[in-house]
Amino acid sequence: MNNTSFRKRMENSSKSKRSRIILALDVAPRVDLLNFIKNMIFLLEAHICAIKINFHLILPLSSSEISEINKIAHSFNLQSIADIKLNDIPNTNKIAMYYLFKMGFDAIIVNPFMGKKSLRSAVAQAHRINRGIIALVYMSHPEAKESFGLTVTLGKNNNKQNNIVYKVFHDNAYRSDADGIVVGATQSDILKEISCQKRLPIYSPGFGTQGGNIKEATLMSIDYFIIGRSIINNNPLKSISKIKQIISI
Ligand code: XMP
Repeated sequence: MNNTSFRKRMENSSKSKRSRIILALDVAPRVDLLNFIKNMIFLLEAHICAIKINFHLILPLSSSEISEINKIAHSFNLQSIADIKLNDIPNTNKIAMYYLFKMGFDAIIVNPFMGKKSLRSAVAQAHRINRGIIALVYMSHPEAKESFGLTVTLGKNNNKQNNIVYKVFHDNAYRSDADGIVVGATQSDILKEISCQKRLPIYSPGFGTQGGNIKEATLMSIDYFIIGRSIINNNPLKSISKIKQIISI
């Protein structure tokens, strides 16, 4: 692993590939899963700056198969992100991160519900080996308002203040020196608000299949567009070329 930070590597990959698209490799179960994924990377590598892997691959594939995918990604100058929305007690987080980084992931998406102190230790663990932590701020699915949209009361006695969970998470991510935040593309008002503040790189999923509008999102300062099914399930090369025309670098 080189000694450039994950944040810088993302910027470099994005510049050299002239793309801000992160390909979500969400493939439904199939017998030739590993080969299908490898071929998808060979086919699309020139059009993306990173891949994102979640339970679609982490559960069915072995750790050496995941390492192999990450090596292929790196050989094409792509970053690789593990999207497991990690959220456990510190010891479990630490061990999960150890194994994910050992498999070659450059960054891990975590859920700030774990708490401020845990988020800070996750960032410190990642930064010690030049890897990154990306924190959820507001998820893309409609039920996100039942958690990320809740109003909470913080502070004690005369110092009590109301705030909304996603604002607390945004602040915690910034203060913990996280490398980026995830805000769903379907949450256009929140995305607008956060992109105006622009405290951390913004990673946004939820385009196409989930309803987020790519054209509208290009008017905000989103750094990376996470896209899966609308590329993978439907003539990948043609779909990604169309999307790339809309998202300028
Ligand atoms: P699609 O097929 O909808 O895939 O383009 C989107 C990918 O992103 C993941 N996803 C999220 N990941 N925070 C995340 O960290 C979110 O709010 C979020 N919404 C969707 C999804 O699992 C898929 O891999």
